[in-house]
Amino acid sequence: MIMNNSIWILAINVVFSIIGYQLVIRLIPALSQMFIKANLSGIDMAKPDRKRIPEAQGVVCGAVYLIMMFLFVPVCFYQDLALRNMAQFPFHKYVEFLAALLSICCMIFLGFADDVLDLRWRHKLLLPTLASLPLLVVYFVTFNLTMIIVPSPLRCLFGYSLDIGFLYYIYMGMLAVFCTNAINIVAGINGIEAGQSLVIALSVIVFNLIELNAVCFAILKLNWYPAQVFVGDTFCYFSGMTFAVVAILGHFSKTMLLFFIPQVFNFIFSVPQLFHLVPCPRHRLPHYDPQTNLQSMSYTEYKPESLSLLARLIIQVFSALRLVDVQRGDKGMVKCSNMTIITLFLKMFGPMHESKLTSALLITQVFSSIIALMIRYPLAMLFYNQ
Ligand code: UD1
Ligand code: MG
Repeated sequence: MIMNNSIWILAINVVFSIIGYQLVIRLIPALSQMFIKANLSGIDMAKPDRKRIPEAQGVVCGAVYLIMMFLFVPVCFYQDLALRNMAQFPFHKYVEFLAALLSICCMIFLGFADDVLDLRWRHKLLLPTLASLPLLVVYFVTFNLTMIIVPSPLRCLFGYSLDIGFLYYIYMGMLAVFCTNAINIVAGINGIEAGQSLVIALSVIVFNLIELNAVCFAILKLNWYPAQVFVGDTFCYFSGMTFAVVAILGHFSKTMLLFFIPQVFNFIFSVPQLFHLVPCPRHRLPHYDPQTNLQSMSYTEYKPESLSLLARLIIQVFSALRLVDVQRGDKGMVKCSNMTIITLFLKMFGPMHESKLTSALLITQVFSSIIALMIRYPLAMLFYNQ
């Protein structure tokens, strides 16, 4: 009986997803002019004609996702609603659902604000933390498991499990900040923001992220090289928060981080620039050469004596590890390639066409998901089974 019911819910979910996909793929072109008129547009920097194309299209994606989820509520709770047995209505599940949507909605709002106003970094870090609060409260009331299982090699020190209590909530709050920003900073070439989200969403499809997959697929089609639209920060924050929400409520936040391996790498790699130890230009996207139509490494320029000792040390270590390319510029300036995974790819493989670069990065994302699943299952047994 229960099995039967879940198959129905899954089937309706798939139908909703198809409708969601169709809506996004039609609405975005239909609304394009409206966005351009409202000045919500950007120049595609890696095209010879530097065309202006509509930006922040993630808001259409997010809105369709929310509408589909709202319509999905009665489907999910159909049996309980039909029985009209309010005493047994699963309020805790309902509250989880609503808190999740509230957090996602907040992030769409914040992302849109970022697209319109160009927010500062401190706001980008503070606001997702606040947006995850309703979710953490629900987690506290419904689940409140803050225990972590200790990997077997460390058990002699910490025992089988460790209750990290409040720290677990801090970790979950940080997860929301990380997921939202991590996607936004692997950016700047056609198809990369929506592409990585699609791969991650496919990786967690078993955890019922079907709707996100559908809207994501639709926007990727329009954002793929040559892009007709830009997804904007709205989309990056929307998809990032959805991953964080699903990971927290689905109790698989550590597995989710494994799906984010390239983003974790990019985030750590970016830290010296994000915290302005090394100058961070407004755009770190690759350099476009109209003559060859290829993309190559982009650089940040500085006077070496203006950098702190720590910054110089970091650049030296990164350079020794062949993560960055350092060159002497004019007038005593030094230039160092930007600290992003995209630039690193261009350093390793040389100048590349934009669509090839996106594909190479997405293939890496797929491989890292496969590795993640391998760690999650066979290797986890090695570490956690005695
Ligand atoms: C983030 C990155 C920034 C990168 C930018 C590109 C960090 C800290 N920030 O900033 O380095 O340059 O994303 O999105 O890593 N654009 C293209 N082609 C694309 C996508 C975007 O040319 O495929 C350009 C367009 O001009 C568009 C603009 O990037 O208008 C959007 O930038 P925005 O998303 O506002 O930048 P941030 O997220 O602040
Ligand atoms: Mg962005």
